[in-house]
Amino acid sequence: MKYNLLGNTGLLVSKLCFGTMTFGGEGYWEAIGQQTQDEADALIKKSVESGINFIDTANIYSFGQSETILGNSIKNLQLNRQELVIATKVRGTMGDDPNNRGLSRFHIFNSVNNSLERLQLDHIDILYVHGVDVVTSIRDVMRSLNDIVETGKVRYIGVCNWPAWMVMKAQGIARREGWQEFKAMQYFYSLSGRDVEDALLPLSQSEELGFMPWSPLAGGFLSGKYTRENQKAGGGARRDEFDFPPINKNQAYDIVEVMQDIAKEHDATVAEVALAWVRMQQGVTSTIIGAKNMEQLESNISSADLQLGEEELEELDEVSATPDRYPFWMVERQGSERIPGE
Ligand SMILES: NC(=O)c1ccc[n+]([C@@H]2O[C@H](COP(=O)([O-])OP(=O)(O)OC[C@H]3O[C@@H](n4cnc5c(N)ncnc54)[C@H](OP(=O)(O)O)[C@@H]3O)[C@@H](O)[C@H]2O)c1
Repeated sequence: MKYNLLGNTGLLVSKLCFGTMTFGGEGYWEAIGQQTQDEADALIKKSVESGINFIDTANIYSFGQSETILGNSIKNLQLNRQELVIATKVRGTMGDDPNNRGLSRFHIFNSVNNSLERLQLDHIDILYVHGVDVVTSIRDVMRSLNDIVETGKVRYIGVCNWPAWMVMKAQGIARREGWQEFKAMQYFYSLSGRDVEDALLPLSQSEELGFMPWSPLAGGFLSGKYTRENQKAGGGARRDEFDFPPINKNQAYDIVEVMQDIAKEHDATVAEVALAWVRMQQGVTSTIIGAKNMEQLESNISSADLQLGEEELEELDEVSATPDRYPFWMVERQGSERIPGE
């Protein structure tokens, strides 16, 4: 397993991160996964033995069950805490109480304490804000995140699902005030979801932040089990029930067709090709893989060694391209005037 630097932090994380969103199965999470403690122990053991040192969870995954199961696995497997980078998140609605959600200082502090209790840990390595809280000011969020790091309960802070302008505004406030800045970004990125290439991925490179793609298989759609001829996968596949994240399915079927040919050339699966493509994109630090069983996990881990050729990358780029959005096409057009010889 290769390790990449998480932005400019000096922290090394495996190029694959193991996602635990399938642990538990409480409430609406049932359609995503219902993995038991024993199943989770086996998947975590395999991940760690394969060199994965980065594990991703969230307070909201099965309303705390994912964190609880992960914490138990760390204990059951007697893993060395100091060799693991554990990430969790805050923002989702954790209960009926109106303050048991969002990014207020009140909730961030309560949520971190609750996460630590469930994980049975004394610190979280990366705490991500899981999305935008439309009623808490960015300044308040950054102040609270700074202060939670000061308590020693959190080591680094990160951001998921915020528009680029908000991330940059937050960095600016934190920098001016001498507060902790975001060090990690976690966003949907796959062959069927390349929106981050407009502004978020360039932002992560310009700010030297780690970039962690989530749903690299678009929730299983890009695994090869969905084709134009076979639009329901069956067997309890998640996208049959829970059609997320939103993608252009017509284009996704074209992408799958191209991947089928590439997979054959490499004696690999379609899922492995989709994961290799994400991993090989410039600026990607660690791809967050999900797996419902050991076979999927083994396949996903093996994708770390799959190298796609230049022509294959070009083919995939072409079939998955989306029209440039404004002002990005104007930036490109005007930029070409500034490159000598063009
Ligand atoms: N920050 C955020 O907002 C956010 C959002 C979503 C996820 N995440 C993180 O990202 C992680 C990964 O997300 P994801 O689960 O959506 O990733 P994904 O890779 O897009 O989808 C994983 C699903 O695809 C199917 N699959 C996986 N490997 C396969 C294989 N080799 N062959 C065939 N099918 C396969 C499985 O579902 P089926 O077998 O049911 O098809 C599996 O549950 C999560 O665990 C979580 O940690 C973060």
